[in-house]
Amino acid sequence: MTLRKIVSTTLLAALAACGSAKNENTAAPQAAPVLFTEDAKDTHSFARPEEARVRHVSLDLTTDFDTRVVQGTATLDIETAPDAKEVVLDSKSLNISRVTDTEGRALPFALGKGDEVHGQPLTVQLGGAKKIVVHYASAPGAAALQWLSPSQTAGKKLPYLFSQGQAILNRTWIPTQDSPGIRQSWDATITVPEELTAVMSAEMLTPEGEETDGGRVFRFKMDKPVAPYLIAIAVGDLTFKEIGPRTGVWTEPAMLEKSAWEFADLEKMVSAAEGLYGPYRWGRYDLLVLPPSFPFGGMENPRLTFLTPTVIAGDRSLVSLIAHELAHSWSGNLVTNATWDDFWLNEGFTTYFENRIMEAMEGKERAAMLADLGWSDMEQAFTDVGGSRSKDTQLHLNLDGRDPDDGMTNVAYEKGAVFLRTIEQTVGREKWDAYLKSYFDRFAFQPQTSAGFIADLRKNLLGGDAALEKKIGVEEWIYQPGVPANAVHLKAASFAAIDQAAKAFSGGQPASSIDASKWSTQERVRFLNALPRRLTPAQLADLDATWKLGSTGNGEIRFAWLMLAVANRYDPAAASAEQFLTAQGRRKFVSPLFEALEKQGEWGKPIAARIYAKARPGYHSVTAVTVDKMLGWKA
Ligand code: BES
Ligand code: ZN
Repeated sequence: MTLRKIVSTTLLAALAACGSAKNENTAAPQAAPVLFTEDAKDTHSFARPEEARVRHVSLDLTTDFDTRVVQGTATLDIETAPDAKEVVLDSKSLNISRVTDTEGRALPFALGKGDEVHGQPLTVQLGGAKKIVVHYASAPGAAALQWLSPSQTAGKKLPYLFSQGQAILNRTWIPTQDSPGIRQSWDATITVPEELTAVMSAEMLTPEGEETDGGRVFRFKMDKPVAPYLIAIAVGDLTFKEIGPRTGVWTEPAMLEKSAWEFADLEKMVSAAEGLYGPYRWGRYDLLVLPPSFPFGGMENPRLTFLTPTVIAGDRSLVSLIAHELAHSWSGNLVTNATWDDFWLNEGFTTYFENRIMEAMEGKERAAMLADLGWSDMEQAFTDVGGSRSKDTQLHLNLDGRDPDDGMTNVAYEKGAVFLRTIEQTVGREKWDAYLKSYFDRFAFQPQTSAGFIADLRKNLLGGDAALEKKIGVEEWIYQPGVPANAVHLKAASFAAIDQAAKAFSGGQPASSIDASKWSTQERVRFLNALPRRLTPAQLADLDATWKLGSTGNGEIRFAWLMLAVANRYDPAAASAEQFLTAQGRRKFVSPLFEALEKQGEWGKPIAARIYAKARPGYHSVTAVTVDKMLGWKA
């Protein structure tokens, strides 16, 4: 595929030109022009931003834990082209009672034809209004939100609510233009039951909240324009502990000390990231450790990364996940994929950056181990999507007509990271680092496309050197399936001994003859993944007993063990799998495990069905929907 023609006009420029041209010089400063290309059309949003677009969202919402709805208003600032009569928003399962202007005059609105994945367009007749007020409530089953009963929390006494917006779920609780290319500043006033605390991915103006009759009110402000999937909320029995001057951790009281200990190096990590690619631009960087049903390892909500409690291994061995979410403060949150077809611009850049942070924090060998595990994950992802000739192994995807989730595989993460590492090693680290730092500056607070990145790379790194571009193979990397021959595979020196040990063990040596006492988490994972999927029950029992794999609280090791055990139809692991799958809802662990069980036919299917029936009610919709599809589950 050839690079699409770049159209160097921008919506901003177009809108500005349509407006008062004579005021050119006095107009408020606009962001630098963005290269808009054909592939910047977001097929996962109903919005038509070239006609009318949302600039600011102001939420005034009450969380009702009895009915499990949020309800109130969203007041939107709309910027329009001169002849625009209406604005189109995204919505899904929202109950909209009315839409008004700020004087309370009703504005006509309609919900149009939609579908299961995208929801419905909400079209509002503006009648000249520049601000509109949508009065609405979310549905009790809103896909972004999970309402937890007290028993699903660490404290067991109070309920909990959290949201997960990426990729296109925020439209189930916020009526706005839900497209990553349409950045919006926002603020919120949130009323919660008086014993609970609300936090959001924004500046917290009232950390203690303010009393109102029968509730507490919390106010938030995000004055930088962000992609709307990054608006996030959590409400629960939350407390805070400072880690450094601009870092800290929010969680339930029972989790606070453990969390603060695990992430004690957070402040240093922010500084390490800044040392690589420039200033952290969001003010504070806090973590929120959620209840175990949180469907992801982490989610990079600005100023407040949301985290699974399964990263709390008790030995700080899984902090690369924090490095990852922190790196998104540049790649993803500052420079954002314009559409989900270019998800790799978020995740590939972030996975690369994550590895550089880990190198700075823990040295080259640890970084090599993580990158080497990533390489295996990439190979696995290729297999999962149908082999390295599948179009789904391209970095730039075409997800039109599909759920954006379909494109969210390790191809984007790991092939993306290997691509950037390959550029790094081709041009030299010094030159590459200077380029990448300047890239984040040039595109700060803007959407980006593959075509835009290539154009920038040509201009600001390759300097028109066609031979160098050919050597890297830029377009092949982005627009062709598989991995180009020049891919840099970082290998961990220490893995040689681990692979040796795996060979010895599978050849019949007992686990006790292997001195694994100094192995890191990454080495343990490598060992388990290196074992053949055919071992004897005695070998598996030996492994399990020697290293307590079936009961380890380290999620990565537990997962690697269970995948091995299930592939071997190892009966005693069924109880451990059940415990693991009902105790947490992280999709990355849950989905492959159910898939592996399912693959084991008459042995695994009944186990999967039994465990899923028990576990499913505890999962967030993100995890439940994925596993439903895989198991063909019906209520
Ligand atoms: N942004 C992602 C999570 C995500 C991806 C949410 C796709 C919705 C759709 C986050 O940064 C992430 O990648 N999390 C990973 C951890 C990371 C260390 C690979 C996860 O959840 O496992
Ligand atoms: Zn990520």
